[in-house]
Amino acid sequence: MKEVYGVIGDPVEHSLSPVMHNAAFEALNMDAIYLAFRVPPEYTRDAIRGAWSLGFSGLNVTIPLKEIALSYVSADEIARKIGAINTISFKKGVPFGHNTDGIAALKVLEEAVGDIREKHVLILGAGGAAKAIAFYLASAGAFVKIANRTAERAAEIASKLNASWTDLENLKEHIKDAEILINATSVGMYPYVENTLVTAEMMHHDLIVFDIVYNPVETRLLREAKKADVKMTIDGVKMLVYQGAAAFEIWTGVEPPKDVMERAVRNALSDL
Ligand code: ATR
Repeated sequence: MKEVYGVIGDPVEHSLSPVMHNAAFEALNMDAIYLAFRVPPEYTRDAIRGAWSLGFSGLNVTIPLKEIALSYVSADEIARKIGAINTISFKKGVPFGHNTDGIAALKVLEEAVGDIREKHVLILGAGGAAKAIAFYLASAGAFVKIANRTAERAAEIASKLNASWTDLENLKEHIKDAEILINATSVGMYPYVENTLVTAEMMHHDLIVFDIVYNPVETRLLREAKKADVKMTIDGVKMLVYQGAAAFEIWTGVEPPKDVMERAVRNALSDL
């Protein structure tokens, strides 16, 4: 029988997860389908239970349900520590939550940069994505500083991770000390494509700039980084693909073809 997977969120109609996972199923000749389901927060529990009782093979959870969904599943220790999930498996007999955002960011960086131990990383943002990334990078031995508009949110994460924190004042000074800058906020995301928290004159030549925003693929931040002639820029597509690939592996035990998934996402984005 065909296996059914899906993503729940609201809004979810522009999610690239269906395109990405269906490309992997096709490449692997699997009899499976992945669909997007719009679920308002008050139906999160029903949606998870419904998917479980209908025999779904796996779910992704996206904005704004990542935190609330955690209350309705058992979850691994990392997801509980982050306080948010993006993946649910049903194999253990109950809905079981995981968070693959942080491991995805770590893998992207390690692939691009190598070992990130003792690297100075400045993370912009203190939402769910920033928290997951900060957790993994700190665990991998990076020196993490979190900068957020609402400083208390940055302070709260930092206190749990042995990281430091700041607000968005004097960002240029903080960037001077950083080798890697990660934008983990939604700033610059479509439709507000001209927005950025950091401009070229705040950057330096030895900086690696990684934006987790993938729509548009080349954000204003990455354009500023190129203008500043930084060491390297990394767009958000790989992170999307790697968090999806990690979920795919949790569900199926099979490592999916990440190149196929990445191509499907880049094609879909170029059609937007
Ligand atoms: P997610 O789970 O995707 O990370 P979130 O929890 O809503 O989403 O977090 C969004 C992040 O982007 C937050 O760090 C937010 O800053 P605040 O904590 O101060 O709200 C940040 N963000 C969003 N819009 C911003 C803006 N215009 N300027 C600065 N930071 C912004």
